[in-house]
Amino acid sequence: MKKNEEFIVEILDNGFGGEGIAKIDGQVIFVPGVIKGEKVKIKILKVTSQICYAKIVDILEKSEHRTLSQCDTYIKCGGCALRHMDYEYTIQMKKESVQNTLKKALGRPIFVDEVLSMENPFYYRNKLQYPVGINGAGEPVMGVFAERSHRIIPTSECKIQNGLAQKIANSIFQFAKENGISAYNEEKQMGILRHIVIRVGQKTNEVMVTLVVNDWKIPKENVLIDFLTTQYTEIKTIVKNLNHQNTNVILGKKNEILFGNGYVTDILLGKQFKISNLSFYQVNPIQTEKLYAKAIEYANLTGNETIFDLYCGIGTIGICASDKAKKLIGIETIPEAISDAKENAKINHMENAEFFVGDVEIALPKLIKMQKINADVVFVDPPRKGCDKTALDTLLEVEAKRIVYVSCNPATLGRDLKILERKYEIKKLAICDMFPWTSHVECCSVLQRKQDM
Ligand SMILES: C[S@@+](CC[C@H](N)C(=O)[O-])C[C@H]1O[C@@H](n2cnc3c(N)ncnc32)[C@H](O)[C@@H]1O
Repeated sequence: MKKNEEFIVEILDNGFGGEGIAKIDGQVIFVPGVIKGEKVKIKILKVTSQICYAKIVDILEKSEHRTLSQCDTYIKCGGCALRHMDYEYTIQMKKESVQNTLKKALGRPIFVDEVLSMENPFYYRNKLQYPVGINGAGEPVMGVFAERSHRIIPTSECKIQNGLAQKIANSIFQFAKENGISAYNEEKQMGILRHIVIRVGQKTNEVMVTLVVNDWKIPKENVLIDFLTTQYTEIKTIVKNLNHQNTNVILGKKNEILFGNGYVTDILLGKQFKISNLSFYQVNPIQTEKLYAKAIEYANLTGNETIFDLYCGIGTIGICASDKAKKLIGIETIPEAISDAKENAKINHMENAEFFVGDVEIALPKLIKMQKINADVVFVDPPRKGCDKTALDTLLEVEAKRIVYVSCNPATLGRDLKILERKYEIKKLAICDMFPWTSHVECCSVLQRKQDM
């Protein structure tokens, strides 16, 4: 097989990233934008010793699940890898993909008990992060990165982003162009505006604008602040964030508040949350409420339990569960998030909560050994890489009655469940469509201590 050769193939399956899988003489070919069962003409783009990559030239036989994408940029941006499928089918695919991944990890079939899908899976994101840069013609451009690249695709409307956030981003970009605020040139590492980051409190409609800059000095900064806050009364705060590292990380560590008090609030399951820009906050608040309600249901609390909220971010899961618990202990690595969590406990009139900054794998063993704190029920919600081995070993020592494991990565969930199975039995598994149209899926599973069964 050679680059630019064309073939007609049948799509045998869809992979975990939504990509179609075909085979020619045993050679695996990945084709984005196609659906299992379709017959397509493809063009080979890249050949390696193990896998080939191809693009669609023509769809000869369409799947009954194919729909119009309603988005101009999805093929290029790669964010919504499942946009060409009907929504119900994307859910079915995610369910099967989680079951297959867990079956592989655990060595036996495992079934999804519940699916939390979205009624209106559009404009759901509460956080917009648009890079600002220079295009091939040397003009400023704002939008989304093309898949696996730093080429910016101009985007004025994305179907999964909050509408108000997009309007504000468009206004900032326009202002920057008209007022000499230069766009960041990544190659030369010059120019001022690198990213526009906007967070919207879904229930409060409060907006936080973060201008990620390569230089503290923004021309006409005060005019920009006046313009934005007059035009958009929803803006509660504007923060300047300095990032002059040559890095893929969007936010730098230093903030300067230009307007307001540096955070927005939002409400989840009736609790109020203060969110500052360096803290993690789930991007789909409608689905977050469903996910947390499920996690709390799985925890089956009576009001007498001490609960751990590990990888707690700004304390959302633990605080939402706290009405049904005697005491809450949260651990999180980002200091700003813990400071938000402490404030959030106060705002919600909680006196039974303590939050600690640290890596779970270090802070948890310390808490247990030095402070003799233990838990009846543990919530864990780690990042994509899952739990550290020491954290899992410590959890096995804690021997809580139940562990509720929330995960955004079925592969690491499976790996970690395999370890926890030494002392726990997986009782239930739910999937939550936190990121509609993308190939990502959130899982929530509850484990019961074997000795109590
Ligand atoms: C998926 S988020 C979940 C946060 C929170 N439970 C929520 O629902 O908003 C994972 C969190 O783990 C934190 N984190 C990452 N590695 C960590 C570690 N080793 N120890 C503690 N926290 C960590 C991240 O900063 C992030 O806030």
